[in-house]
Amino acid sequence: MRLIAHISDLHFGMEDERIAEGLLEDIAGFHPSVVVISGDLTQRARKKQFLSAGAFIRKILVPCLVVPGNHDIPLYDVFRRTLTPLRRYRHYITADLNPVFQDDELMILGANTARAATFKNGRISMAQIRILAEKYCSAAGHLFKVLVTHHPFLPPLDNPCATLVGRGGLAVEALEPCGIDLLLSGHYHRGFMGDLQSHYITIKRSILVAQAGTAFSKRIRGEKNSYDRIIIDPPDIHFDRYEWEGRRFAKTRAIRYRKVNGAWRLYPQDVRATG
Ligand SMILES: [Fe+2]
Ligand SMILES: [Fe+2]
Repeated sequence: MRLIAHISDLHFGMEDERIAEGLLEDIAGFHPSVVVISGDLTQRARKKQFLSAGAFIRKILVPCLVVPGNHDIPLYDVFRRTLTPLRRYRHYITADLNPVFQDDELMILGANTARAATFKNGRISMAQIRILAEKYCSAAGHLFKVLVTHHPFLPPLDNPCATLVGRGGLAVEALEPCGIDLLLSGHYHRGFMGDLQSHYITIKRSILVAQAGTAFSKRIRGEKNSYDRIIIDPPDIHFDRYEWEGRRFAKTRAIRYRKVNGAWRLYPQDVRATG
């Protein structure tokens, strides 16, 4: 059994310090196996914002897997944007743009989807897809395989035309034979989940998608600040959403899936908040 804390869209520069502190206290309290941070660490990729993001990450005393988001590339500084788009991210956060977390049960790979050529959209390259497929396909079959990107593979139910990660379809086709089970992303500042088969009708494998909301930035879009605790306990997987309730994070949703005959099924059903 493994426990992932999935947090996203920190947007330092637009952060609510009290909520950030509350999140650190939560993480220290439940001690996840790994913390996944799916991009947009800063608001405008400024040095001060990266320093704050780096200081926040260093306070997390368990392994962290981090990928950049579109906001981690400078927007207005055309020189930096064009020539050294992720230089500050690499300097202050991590030089590793293809991070890996692996233990006896879990393999999590991260892929950078932020691109200087687009302002907010992202994409995955053919080279990245090849590298990911090699790593997943050569890994032991019993590992639970997770991919982390900033840009999403699945649109919200109420916005089926939302822009998705570029080449996402090609990536899914290449990775499904390698036994990938879960995709984690952010970007929309909205938390939701679903099965990739609901959108990519040609894929044969049931693959879960979990989108995190924004953990503690003031850039909220109709939802409270939140993060997810994901319990990987095959054949079950639990998604518990924690929302900021003014003074602390509280569990507001618990969803459990079970893999039955190769497909993820809600089990026993969506269970609403216990507070
Ligand atoms: Fe964001
Ligand atoms: Fe974003």
